[in-house]
This record gives sequence, C-alpha cells and structure tokens, in this order.
Amino acid sequence: MKYSSDQDYIYYSGTNIPVNKLGIQNQTEIDELEAQLFLKTYEHFHENLNEKTLFNQKYLKDLHKFAFAKLYSWAGKYRTKNISKGDTVFCQARHLEEQIEKFFAEFKKENYLRDYHDKTSEEFAEVVAYFMCELIALHPFNELNGRTIRLFFDMIAVYNGYEYINYDNISARADNKFIQASKRCMHKDCKPMEEIILKGLKKAK
Ligand SMILES: Nc1ncnc2c1ncn2[C@@H]1O[C@H](COP(=O)(O)OP(=O)(O)OP(=O)(O)O)[C@@H](O)[C@H]1O
Ligand SMILES: [Mg+2]
Repeated sequence: MKYSSDQDYIYYSGTNIPVNKLGIQNQTEIDELEAQLFLKTYEHFHENLNEKTLFNQKYLKDLHKFAFAKLYSWAGKYRTKNISKGDTVFCQARHLEEQIEKFFAEFKKENYLRDYHDKTSEEFAEVVAYFMCELIALHPFNELNGRTIRLFFDMIAVYNGYEYINYDNISARADNKFIQASKRCMHKDCKPMEEIILKGLKKAK
C-alpha cells in the first residue's frame, strides 16, 4: 500500500513500487516477486522452527531481512521516517526503537507467547490480537509490515500447535476487515482483531 507523508522517498516517483535493487518498475512483476520471496520465507522459518525458537526482536527483523534483502536496502531495518496511512499516523520514527524495545520487554515477560499449547483458542486469540495491535501501531518497517507481522504470529501459532492463521481475505482496500480492525488497534481496541484471529485459528492435526 502507498504511504503518504515524508516516506515517499522509497518509491519510484508516481508509483507504489519501492525503489529496488533489480530496478523493477512494473507493479505485477514486483507483486509476484514479493509473493514468491514471502513463500520461501514461510518455508524457511517453518522448517527452522523448534522448541528453542525465541520470537524476539532479532527474529522479527530476520523475517523481514530474509524475505526482502534481495530487493530492498532497508530490509530488516527499522524505518527512520514518519509514515501514515489514511487517517492513521503510526509511531513517530524518533520513538520507534524505544517503543519496540518496550514491546519486546513485555513480550519476553509473556515468554514470547510460547505457552499456549494447552490453553484455549480464545485465550490465544486474545493475547495474539493484543500484541499484533501493538506491532501494527508501531509499524516498524518502511513497507511490508502487514505481511511480516502476520508471518511473525503465524510462526507463533505453529509453535503452539495451530495452523497458519486464516485471515480469510486480506487486501489493502480501506473497507477490508483486517484494515478496519487495524484502524481500531490505533485506539487500543483489539476486539475486532481478536474476532478475526479467533475465527482463523485451527489446531494442526
Ligand atoms: N488506515 C490504516 N490504519 C491503521 N492500520 C492500517 C491502515 N491501513 C493499513 N494498515 C495496516 O498496515 C498494514 C499494511 O502495511 P504495509 O503496507 O507496510 O504492509 P504490506 O505487507 O505491504 O501490506 P498488506 O498487509 O496489505 O499485505 C495492514 O496490514 C494493516 O495492518
Ligand atoms: Mg505495503
């Protein structure tokens, strides 16, 4: 999705395409390549998941870096500019590092959500929604936040004996349910996200 404000510098002018190492300026081509790279990232991190995996700050950055280092110089790095989408202004860039540190300190206290194997789906959905909302509001990277955040929690879901969370239908359209729920996150209302997640949780066989 295209950002407004002072972040436009990462895109080829007049497009939604981030300046990339391969010089791709065709939307379909970049969409397909990103999707392919993402699929590989899912495979890689799923294969490497084990009981010692820590879903810490390094892990979040590594997901983004592994997926997009071939394309973007800022892969795996936090943004340094302020960004907004629609009416939403995400965390100010100058507070980002500090806020992410805080996020992961709280996440660590919850043992990175690694203890939900024997709890109910309702309990898991509630806690995932809470932390997902926080990360959406932080919006750590220039781009590809949505996909990276979903991947992060998909790995946590698998860790706890679930399949990847089924979001049903994700699109960048303003009327999309996930976008609507993301907007509510900015007002500390995680309920709509919790409902989406609970609906999308299924125990792995
Ligand atoms: N108006 C908005 N208010 C709050 N959050 C929003 C808004 N629009 C989008 N978002 C959040 O930002 C995410 C998109 O961020 P970004 O474009 O960096 O990631 P992406 O992976 O390219 O997109 P997508 O999630 O659509 O695949 C959405 O998934 C949603 O969580
Ligand atoms: Mg985007």
